Amino acid sequence: MATILQPHRENVRLVAELLRAGEVVGLPTETVYGLAADATQAGAVEKIFAAKERPPTNPLIVHVAEPSMANAFAVTDSPRWKPLVERFWPGPLTLVVPARPGKLAQEVSAGLDSVAIRLPAKALAREVIAAAGCPLAAPSANPSGYTSPTTAAHVAASLGSRIQYILDGGPCERGLESTILSLLDADSPRILRPGPITHAMLVELLGPCVTASPTQGKEETAQRAPGQFTAHYQPRTALFLCHKLSQLVGGDYRNAALIVHAPAEALARAHFGRTIILGNGDPAAAEREFYATLRELDNSGYDSIYFHVSREHPLSEGLMDRLCRASSGWVGT
Ligand code: TXA
Ligand code: MG
Repeated sequence: MATILQPHRENVRLVAELLRAGEVVGLPTETVYGLAADATQAGAVEKIFAAKERPPTNPLIVHVAEPSMANAFAVTDSPRWKPLVERFWPGPLTLVVPARPGKLAQEVSAGLDSVAIRLPAKALAREVIAAAGCPLAAPSANPSGYTSPTTAAHVAASLGSRIQYILDGGPCERGLESTILSLLDADSPRILRPGPITHAMLVELLGPCVTASPTQGKEETAQRAPGQFTAHYQPRTALFLCHKLSQLVGGDYRNAALIVHAPAEALARAHFGRTIILGNGDPAAAEREFYATLRELDNSGYDSIYFHVSREHPLSEGLMDRLCRASSGWVGT
């Protein structure tokens, strides 16, 4: 079972040494916990793919301690780079730019000639990267496809038998993975994964040339064609989405749990074994608590989980994206 290390200075040094020696370590960031390894060592990066059972075709995000660290392995001369870095780094924005060939283990980019780079807001993560002195490849520290981890205990629960060390940085402040923005086409920066840095925030800085993620605003399509979203982030317990709780009234949901994120009809709630109000109406808290709530319900023995998506109080684009991917589809209309 993995050892959970408290965030003392000696443990930062120990983790840095382990990473330099080619080990993988569970590492906290402000978004989710990552499974980190030295991005320049093929053997170390392979351990990430093995522990997560991640398909080798799915590339990893590389984490740096300061923007200049990226120059060693990436081409950062896009005119978009500097304004984005100055405005959003450190923070939950990942930038995809051309890679410098041969500088990182080729497994990191899964054969692509680009690389995804992020400078985390979490000071502890930056301290580890700086102490290790190498860029760190770090996907979310969950088995491939399963719900992402936002505490050290989550990492221990799902990967604890496969990795040796997890650095405990407390619960993640954001709770949802970074926004991924591709800068490969300078004329049209493209959101590849929606997240905490929203399309509107990017448009405000760069103008209307920013292309939204293809998953954004596709809620209605998903409703008509379940499975339209690539499955990811999924709890083992089936998760269903619904717009109208009243349509479930009359059914027996005593073995099901209900998540609402906005005030919902008390009548319908009464039929469920348990009801959770995600974030208590606060959108940032809803993002922060989302994965932990799914994990908790997943471990509570319910037959199914229902999520009431309020039309009156829309969820953030990042949360809506994760929710659709984590779910088995919509019920009702
Ligand atoms: O917040 C986050 O981004 C977290 C923390 C740990 O930093 N990391 C994370 O990594 O979410 P992961 O592996 O779960 O998601 C990485 C995704 C890949 O699935 C892929 O979609 C995208 O990043 N990606 C990585 N390299 C890419 C590239 N060269 N081109 C396009 N997409 C890339
Ligand atoms: Mg992930």
